[in-house]
Amino acid sequence: MKKIKFTLIGIALMLVSEFASAGDIRYPLIPMPEKLTPREGSFQLSKTTKIVLNSPDAHLKTATDFLVNLIHQSAGYNLAYAKTGSKNSISFIIDSKIANDEGYTLLVAPDAITVKSKTPAGAFMAIQTLRQLMPAEVEEKKASVQNFAIPAVEIEDAPRFGYRGLMLDVGRYFLPMDFIKKYIDALSFYKINTFHLHLTEDQGWRIEIKKYPRLQEVSAWRNETTVGHARDTPRKYDGKKHGGYYTQAELKELVKFAQDRFITIIPEIEMPGHSQAALAAYPSLGCVLDTTYNVSTSWGVHKDVYCPKEETFKFLEDVLTEVISIFPSKYIHIGGDECPKDRWKASAFCQQLIKEKGLKDEHGLQSYFIRRIEKFLNSKGRAIIGWDEILEGGLAPNATVMSWRGENGGIEAARQNHNVVMTPNTFLYIDYYQTKEGRAKEPLAIGGFLPLEKVYSYNPVPADFTPQQAKYILGAQANLWTEYVPDGKQAGHMTFPRVCALAELSWTPDSKKNYADFKKRLTENVAHLSKMDMNFAPYFMEE
Ligand code: ACM
Repeated sequence: MKKIKFTLIGIALMLVSEFASAGDIRYPLIPMPEKLTPREGSFQLSKTTKIVLNSPDAHLKTATDFLVNLIHQSAGYNLAYAKTGSKNSISFIIDSKIANDEGYTLLVAPDAITVKSKTPAGAFMAIQTLRQLMPAEVEEKKASVQNFAIPAVEIEDAPRFGYRGLMLDVGRYFLPMDFIKKYIDALSFYKINTFHLHLTEDQGWRIEIKKYPRLQEVSAWRNETTVGHARDTPRKYDGKKHGGYYTQAELKELVKFAQDRFITIIPEIEMPGHSQAALAAYPSLGCVLDTTYNVSTSWGVHKDVYCPKEETFKFLEDVLTEVISIFPSKYIHIGGDECPKDRWKASAFCQQLIKEKGLKDEHGLQSYFIRRIEKFLNSKGRAIIGWDEILEGGLAPNATVMSWRGENGGIEAARQNHNVVMTPNTFLYIDYYQTKEGRAKEPLAIGGFLPLEKVYSYNPVPADFTPQQAKYILGAQANLWTEYVPDGKQAGHMTFPRVCALAELSWTPDSKKNYADFKKRLTENVAHLSKMDMNFAPYFMEE
């Protein structure tokens, strides 16, 4: 079996080098720009190339410093800034005539490069385009080349959607900060602009909260973890302690790292469900008092959830106060998914609260819970985003909905004039298998079947939406849940190249998408991922 696999990969690699030597892909760009016109020749970026800025905007310098650092890391020299220059220069011009905030024009001529954008974010997107046009050696940490040829081209570009996201679950497995930075950098390479960090789970709490030290001492650790699939019988455990958490200082540094790549981090603090790790540290936040909770060692939906008491709201408001001091994002994700109502049904306190507040049932109670949290976050100038279960029992007035159980939640929310991020499990759950052989061929995964082509085929705007309804679709996001993703290597394997497909479907006009062409570009483009030391799945080479 292994042998066949290696042979297939070997043949695929030979095909790759065939493609590469044919040299017919001068512009292996992902996502494909809105408009690209080939030009003759190429620009040689070298030690003497200068960068010219037409604006003193500090954020523009942040964008161009990214290019300076990239070249410094790989080639060892610093590109100099100059006041003016026409030959052998890269000029960045802030131009209010460009309509889209992330849009840009890019002219690569043999003697000079000119970038125009409305904002520094657009300049950064142009820099990622330049990075993709450079040889993959530009990703190396130690130079193997000194000059970088960039094929001449004229590009006009702007994203189809303003929200292009990826969610990473660090609750199931704690992933090291160095990996998360490398991952964010790889996402920026594909013009993804939102990183949703799922920080709390039944199996682990990953963010330092100074007011509640037991979240670090207790909730961040589980005694052992499930090995093999949770459905395997008998279920097996490894007997080893797992866990960890990020300090606030580390998270602030991560926010800055992402900002330097024009990526917003949206933190998620799950409530009312997926909260067993917090209950293990602070059991009085649950409904059942004469019990002990543990940080869960197995996967699945857990029945022990926060009880909607004043004490719980005080805890969550304290937690969120610290969260918003770290993360400046407009949105705070409050979870809302998979909250079984068993404990609330059996709780005299909850039943009394339902009566007192005139609520219909436990779904009404969940809606009450989320509305209270929304009110708190709105009072701090933030907005909530939650999984589509927050529709049940009535949507909080200003909530944005993340549609994960297919598209229905998103469709309903848009009909209620609420903003939506489309992240349907049917197209964008990258914890699923990528080949029809599934477990027989791939590392263990949760299940499902989501091949690259299916991700690529996704259109975030439902076919029967009017242009008015389509305005509520902010964009799309892929989600990586990590029950079966214990390390960065496997995270890379699950993420790439499916996120390359996400990048194209959320950036490129639908009319310009072409899977065969995408795959040709991908074949060359992944050389950058290799040099970044970012793992990716090879299955597309076998298709
Ligand atoms: C989810 O997958 N439970 C949002």
